[in-house]
Amino acid sequence: MKLLVIGSGGREHALAWRLARSPRVQRVYVAPGNGGTARASQIQNVALSDTADLIEFAKKEKIAYTVVGPEAPLAAGIVDAFQSAGLKIFGPLREAAQLESSKDYAKAFMVRHGIPTAAYATFTDAQAAHQYIDEQGAPIVIKADGLAAGKGVVVAATLEEAHAAIDDMLGEGSFGEAGARVVIEEFLDGEEASFIVMCDGNNVLPLATSQDHKRLLDGDKGPNTGGMGAYSPAPVISPALHNRIMREVINPTIAGMARDGVPYTGFLYAGLMIGPGSDSTRTLKVLEFNCRMGDPETQPIVMRIKSDFSETLELAIAGRLDEAEIEWDRRPALGVVLAAANYPATPRTGDPITRLAPDTDDCVIFHAGTRLDGDTLKTSGGRVLCVTALGDSLKLAQAAAYDAVARTHFDGVQCRRDIGWRALPQNAPSSGNEPRKT
Ligand code: AMP
Ligand code: GLY
Repeated sequence: MKLLVIGSGGREHALAWRLARSPRVQRVYVAPGNGGTARASQIQNVALSDTADLIEFAKKEKIAYTVVGPEAPLAAGIVDAFQSAGLKIFGPLREAAQLESSKDYAKAFMVRHGIPTAAYATFTDAQAAHQYIDEQGAPIVIKADGLAAGKGVVVAATLEEAHAAIDDMLGEGSFGEAGARVVIEEFLDGEEASFIVMCDGNNVLPLATSQDHKRLLDGDKGPNTGGMGAYSPAPVISPALHNRIMREVINPTIAGMARDGVPYTGFLYAGLMIGPGSDSTRTLKVLEFNCRMGDPETQPIVMRIKSDFSETLELAIAGRLDEAEIEWDRRPALGVVLAAANYPATPRTGDPITRLAPDTDDCVIFHAGTRLDGDTLKTSGGRVLCVTALGDSLKLAQAAAYDAVARTHFDGVQCRRDIGWRALPQNAPSSGNEPRKT
């Protein structure tokens, strides 16, 4: 069968790569794809982004089903449009995608259904927001209401920073529509983890757990980014905590959406803050919902899938996830993002990728911001590559990934050297594995 993946990042390359390895899958089209998907066997890019064009393509090519990677087409209603055209697609309807596309919708939903999350208030008026901040004190967190590509959140350590964020979002309108409304919430301390499940409206199938590193620099310093690396599993999520997350967060969310008349289908990503303490006492709160898989979390997660993922997706679309099971590689996987010069502010593009470590069974370089210029691969976005490796331990997965990082190069490359540090026994950054300078 032929499948279609919508998107152009590392997440979509990883999904297409996994699906293309299924013996049932003849070809995976990626729209619009990137330089990596352009070169992969059994994967083909399609230069389309308009929904009507994609529907026509899916009909003409007799695509068995479509999988949507990023949030923007979901928030714009691509699933509604495909389903109206009688096409199979995996993702939430536009209304359900509001769990990600409106922070205010998500917060109100969580409060209504008793799902644990940080205390909050929503504002459109700058003066009222300033006053609320003065009442609450710092640290405090300011979030633009709409989609802001991971950049609409300010964790303010001081009142000054918090007021500046309000001026920025409500006063100067630097986030446009997305910032015309802000959510201000209580600062939560703890360890973050990503908990991603598949839903068919009724049944839930959890994927392997993961953690990403959102800050640009080693030691979780510097500006927030889309994610500089990730690993799976997340050791902080013990089996006991896993049960609590299903019971306290995931099941009430799926049941709540169904009760609200918006059954949730698709990937659901709960970004969690896990407080200190023992598994039964530590606080568990939802920082955010995403209506898609994470990027770069997807890259290590799909490296660990041993069973045929095309079957799992087919069962999910058919509403039969209760019959699905995923066989996981017991080995951990870890992915290191190589980002362009000046990422995340104003990433430089057009640098040739001069060295690229070859893929092996246990180490794959997923492309994100690359494009083919003739036969030359060039950078075309902020996050360029995600070097992802499996290992018998997380330490070995990390060593394998950094070994391939050292054999990969483009001018201006930025990467963290400590991906996985929280999960390693000694919490020590890796050393001696910097990308070589050319
Ligand atoms: P979000 O897009 O809502 O996940 O926020 C992006 C990042 O900001 C999260 O991954 C956290 O690192 C941080 N963050 C968000 N909300 C809070 C909060 N209430 N307390 C502390 N940190 C937060
Ligand atoms: N890596 C975080 C996200 O995909 O939202």
